[in-house]
Formats: sequence, C-alpha cells, structure tokens
Amino acid sequence: MRDTAIGFYASMLVMPSTIIEPFRIKTVEPIRQTTAAERQSLLASAGYNLFSLPADAVLIDLLTDSGTGAMSAAQWSAIMSGDESYAGAKSFQRFEAVVQELTGFHEVIPTHQGRAAEHLLFKMTVSPGHAVVSNTLFDTTRANTEMMGGIGIDLPTESAADLQSEEGFKGNMNLDALEERLSSDEVTTLVMMTITNNSVAGQPVSLDNMHAVSKICRQHKVPLYIDAARFAENAYLSRSRDPALEGMSLPDIARAYFDLADGCTMSAKKGGMANIGGFLALRDPELAARARQALVVTEGFPTYGGLAGRDLDAIAVGLREALDESYQHYRHASIKYLTDRLLAKGIPHVRPAGGHAVYLDSNRFLDHLSPEDLPGQALAVALYLHGGIRSCEIGSVMFGQFAGTQLIQAAEHGLVRLAFPRRVYTQSHVDYLAEVIEEVYADRKSIPGIEIESCPEHLRHFSATFSPKK
Ligand code: F0G
Repeated sequence: MRDTAIGFYASMLVMPSTIIEPFRIKTVEPIRQTTAAERQSLLASAGYNLFSLPADAVLIDLLTDSGTGAMSAAQWSAIMSGDESYAGAKSFQRFEAVVQELTGFHEVIPTHQGRAAEHLLFKMTVSPGHAVVSNTLFDTTRANTEMMGGIGIDLPTESAADLQSEEGFKGNMNLDALEERLSSDEVTTLVMMTITNNSVAGQPVSLDNMHAVSKICRQHKVPLYIDAARFAENAYLSRSRDPALEGMSLPDIARAYFDLADGCTMSAKKGGMANIGGFLALRDPELAARARQALVVTEGFPTYGGLAGRDLDAIAVGLREALDESYQHYRHASIKYLTDRLLAKGIPHVRPAGGHAVYLDSNRFLDHLSPEDLPGQALAVALYLHGGIRSCEIGSVMFGQFAGTQLIQAAEHGLVRLAFPRRVYTQSHVDYLAEVIEEVYADRKSIPGIEIESCPEHLRHFSATFSPKK
C-alpha cells in the first residue's frame, strides 16, 4: 500500500506534456459569426481591402499583433494606481525603473508608440544622404529615416531569402556586408538591429550575430541601436535555437542583447503587452537631453511622453510579463501548433515558425496565378470570405512597384501574415484557423486573381481598392 502510494506521488513529478494557455479568462469580448453572403457584400463595400472592413465583421483578427493583446489582471490593477500628475508622476518612476532594470539603459524617454521613438532618435542623428543600416528596417523605421533625408539600408543574412530553409537565425545581419558598408566612404549614422526581425517573418537574431555586429560597429565607431519591439520573443527563440543559451533566464538573455547596444527604440504595443505606448532608451545623457527637448514639443513632458500615467504603469507590468516563461512557452507553442498542421498538409508557409506570426507563401499557395494577379491579396480575401479571418498581405500590394494601378515590378516575396495578438485566442481558435486555411487550400485553383481599381501614391495597401478578376 505504502509503496503504491509513493509510486503514484513519484509519477506526479513528471509534468503532463500538453501546453495550455497559462491563464484563465476573466473578461470576455464576444466575436460575431457572419454568413458567407454577408462577408461577400462587406468585402465589395470595402473595395476588397481588409483594412476597410468594420472590425466587428471579423471573426478572428490577425491583421497585427500590435496593441491588440489582452492585458492581465495585474496590468488593469496597475492602471488604477496610475498617477496623472503632469510632471514627476510616480507612474513614470515605476516605468523608468523597470526599463532601466531590463535594458540597462539609464535614460528613459516615454513616447506614444514605437514610431515616435524612432522619429525622435532619427531627428537628432540622421542627416541628408547618410545611412541607417539594419538587418531589416521595419516600414516606419525606414520611413522615419527617409523623412530626415537619410537612406535606409537592409543587410539581412543570406538565408533570409530562402523561405524554406530551417535555419534558426534568419533574422541575422549579413556581417560581411556590414563590414563592407562601414569600411566604405559612405556615411553610416547608426546601425539598427530589429529583434525579432519583423520583415523577415519574425525570425530571431542570434546573440553571436549581435556580438559580431556590436564589435564591427565599435571598430568603426558607429552607434548601435536595437528596435526592441519583440525583444522578449527574440530572447525565447534564441534560447530554444542556441544550445549555448540553455539554462539562462529570459531577462538575462534579453539583457545580454541590450548590453551590446547604445540604446533602443521600443513599441510597447508588442513586447510591452500594452495597447499603446513606447519609449526611447539611451546610454548617452547628452543625446537624451536633446531628445527630451524635442519630446516636449511633439509628444509631451518628458515624464509622460504622449501617454497617460496609467499607460506607463500598464507597460511597466507588461514588460516583465512578456518575459514570463509560461507565457512565452504558450505563445510559441500556439504558433508552432499551426505551422505543424500546415506542414503536415504541405501548405506553403515560411519556415521555421517565427516569433509573432505565421506567414503563408501566397506565390506557392496560389501557383496558378501570376504576380499581376496579386496572389497575396487574393489569398487574404479568400481567407476572409471563407472563414472571417483577417490577415495582412505582405507582397506586391505593399512592396511592389506600380505605374498607376499597373504592377511593373513584383515584390521579392508574396506573403500573407497571420499575426497572433498576445493572450487573445485559444487553441480552438487556432484549430478553426487551421481548418479554414486547409479548406481554402483544397479549393485554391478556383480562387481568382485580383486587380487594383484605385490606389494612392504612398502606403498603397491601407487604402487601395481592388476587384476580383473575371
Ligand atoms: N518596429 C517594429 C519591428 C514593428 O513591427 C513596428 C510595428 C514598429 C517598430 C512601430 O511601432 O506601431 O508602435 O509605432 N509593427 C506593427 C506590425 C504595426 O503590425 O507589425 P508602433
């Protein structure tokens, strides 16, 4: 009897292997089923542009993982202790302390979101004709560089172009190309490492690559910054793909990256687990003083940036929650759960699973269409029509070159991004999503191409209108 009991208790020491959502749900937001006929008519009124759909007609919204996450009970409690004093608020002190502790950067400047931090940094540092070099700049980072007359240069590692390669660190910088660039006579104002690399399917940057980039930057006396929007996912993925990091805690790994840089820009709408917010964090007090002067003019007093005190408190709590082991474990498990199902059915997508999204390879998914048929847009429309799923085209509509409404050069890749909001959807949502994708894939040959009816000159994807080809 005794032995049996001991055997039972001993067996309990082995954890069940199912990875669960590490939370229970306290507040719910209903989502609405629509009929296929309704979706057809909504699409027609939206000009077949998913950005123009009313959000309540979307069943599962995977347009972005930015600002769309669910906050925790601890964050909502922190919101109630928000100090809305104009200057010197306690909320700022709490926020500043967390950012300083996690990043090691002493100068902490809040902003209303990531792009405002980029704008501040580049306003102070980028001069016309000078370059910002990156593993890959995110769109707003590139736009802010160009707005100052600078040139954005992407130097991704070679394997980034191979969507099928299982290499673990396709987010890396191409070190030879960086060395060559910094050795040239062309001026490089700063280097920016985007971790994880959103434009390369959310793939991580390895700590070795970060070390090497930092060394090259120091040799050439060029400052190194981090675009830290998804720093916590980068920490998790780098540990799972680099045996040298085994056993290290996520905060220690994240800190190891920050230690190699001179500062960071941050969108707290992602790794801050908040619905709004961001910051610029720096080592250089003089640069920080200039940033604060500029901040007062556009964002607000330096202890609140463009935010309410309560937002700063939500971010202070969220930044730590992003580095929670069980949360990261669940987040990556749910993304991998979908890519495993896609792999089993041979549905083309970018390998391996990235940090925040699954990217369908629309060129291979819809291989009966030509680039002029805008396969990415055609697939995004089909996913909505069939299952009420909202995704985002990252292909020729976003990055191709057009003369008026005519495609003249297709984007290098045609992708459809399914971005996972944080702590919002459960496994049954992912099951539903997988089923929709599988059914659309089974019927793919009947999906028509799409053409542009009207589009603006810049940021075409937000407001272009389309129609299905006959
Ligand atoms: N950097 C990266 C890597 C991003 O992905 C984003 C935003 C930003 C900076 C800008 O931050 O939105 O707070 O101003 N990415 C969102 C997306 C919009 O859907 O990928 P923001």
